[in-house]
Amino acid sequence: MTPILPGRFAYLTAATLLLALAAAGCSKNGDQSSQTTAQSVTSPAVAAGDAARGKQLFASAKCTSCHGANGVEGGVGPTLKGEKARKNYVQTIAQIRDPQPPMPKLYPDPLNDKDVQDIAAYVQTL
Ligand code: HEC
Repeated sequence: MTPILPGRFAYLTAATLLLALAAAGCSKNGDQSSQTTAQSVTSPAVAAGDAARGKQLFASAKCTSCHGANGVEGGVGPTLKGEKARKNYVQTIAQIRDPQPPMPKLYPDPLNDKDVQDIAAYVQTL
């Protein structure tokens, strides 16, 4: 009787391990798919933006109407002063490309990838 119990126990342990491995495998796949999503958002951001051009676009795209003439005054939208500490360059690009209302979605029209990169580069300087 005694030799059987450890045997069964070992079998159960192996089965549990297999289940745990299978579960780990699944969550690993989940991680990979979310990584792919993050990469597809970040990869167009590899190019550095032109902050001087971004400053002009910030005004012409009317970001100023909600964030202030220089982006730091705020209004309907928050001040973007010190934005760098809240959102890095890539996160700022993501914000402009896919904002929450009331912030308008201006990408991909009228702002293209390059425009968004330039504006994000400017916002990072505030
Ligand atoms: C209609 C008003 C409005 C306009 C126009 C607007 N925004 Fe916003 N913006 C907001 C509001 C409100 C928030 C805060 C809510 C949020 O985080 O989505 C915000 C948030 C942001 C943030 C993130 C702030 C933070 O730290 O969470 C950034 C960066 C930003 N805006 C940049 C821009 C840029 C660049 C433009 C022009 C392309 C723009 N916004 C145009 C209203 C506006």
